[in-house]
Amino acid sequence: MNPLLKPLQLGELVLKNRIVMAPMTRSRADQEAVPTPIMTDYYAQRASAGLIVTEGTSPSADGLGYCRTPAIYSDAQIAAWKSVTDAVHAKGGCIVVQLMHCGRVASRHNKPAASRTLAPSAIKADTELFTDAVGMAPTELPEAMTLDDIQQVVADYRQAALNARAAGFDGVELHCTSGYLPMQFMSENANQRTDAYGGSVANRVRFACEVLAAMADAVGPGRVGLRFCPGNKFNDIADSDPAATFHALLDGVSHMGLAYLHIMKAHTRKVDAFAEARERFPGALIVNDGFEPDTAIDMLASEQADAVSFGRHFIANPDLVERIRDELPLSAFDRKTLYSPGPEGYTDYPQHSNKTVEENA
Ligand SMILES: Cc1cc2nc3c(=O)[nH]c(=O)nc-3n(C[C@H](O)[C@H](O)[C@H](O)COP(=O)(O)O)c2cc1C
Repeated sequence: MNPLLKPLQLGELVLKNRIVMAPMTRSRADQEAVPTPIMTDYYAQRASAGLIVTEGTSPSADGLGYCRTPAIYSDAQIAAWKSVTDAVHAKGGCIVVQLMHCGRVASRHNKPAASRTLAPSAIKADTELFTDAVGMAPTELPEAMTLDDIQQVVADYRQAALNARAAGFDGVELHCTSGYLPMQFMSENANQRTDAYGGSVANRVRFACEVLAAMADAVGPGRVGLRFCPGNKFNDIADSDPAATFHALLDGVSHMGLAYLHIMKAHTRKVDAFAEARERFPGALIVNDGFEPDTAIDMLASEQADAVSFGRHFIANPDLVERIRDELPLSAFDRKTLYSPGPEGYTDYPQHSNKTVEENA
């Protein structure tokens, strides 16, 4: 039997197979960061995945940064997510929400006027991002977080985890890479603090560990996952010793009893991310980045991982699980519609069985 099709339990999460949909920002929420009805269709179409990890979703207004990304702090957002989780569950799926706080990777055009842009230190990220209002825009100069701000943001993540359960999610995943707030704390350039959250590597991973502990305390550790990518420089991150950061993070979370660790291939030759995660983390491991069905099968057959997540293949193949099961060809996605509003290039990719006879021939 194809090992990708075997069931799996990750903490409290029960997966019917080991094919995970990786989190992907698709910018289809409305201007109030409320999920739209086409998001319900999109996730329901992909409910045959063993586990869906949603796109990055903000725990607070302050945590928003990109245009049309969803959040999970208001009643309207929670109610709209409930329609997503109900539709996925009706099709026998399992779904967790990825909590993503952008920190300094934010434009004021993409967040409510009264919200703040926070970071470990008042240092701007050297990058630009897209806004509907003015096109490409520089990031904001963030406010350096006070100790009270840190406590408040940890509390926001905690509340977001509770809101996720109220919205019917099976669990929550912490987005801890790609230059967003937890990674800003871990980096040597974005974090110039001289208190318990800056300086030594143990101090720089403290924020991520406190956030995870709060999320685990709120909903139970068996419903909390952690996503990380050692050495990821995306969004202006610098770290001279990514192995030390990775190891300190794993040391800080290994005792928590988390549902899973979701690791992307390292962006540096200094770290063998999958092998080191396997060695240092006692729980289940989901691996990601550039997998094809055959290489994913190899990872499971050799017991280097418990599950594999696919991002881009899920965009144009809503029935990716069935295509892998039946060894059918995979379709390519259209880059132009990745982040455009509306259903085009989002919910209109056909299932293999619905393609025309000529296309299938
Ligand atoms: C359109 C797009 C949006 C993405 N958004 C997120 C995101 O919100 N959170 C995250 O952790 N990763 C995000 N990623 C990264 C994917 O989860 C995944 O790591 C990446 O696509 C590599 O896996 P793949 O080779 O299977 O596509 C995104 C990737 C793509 C293509």
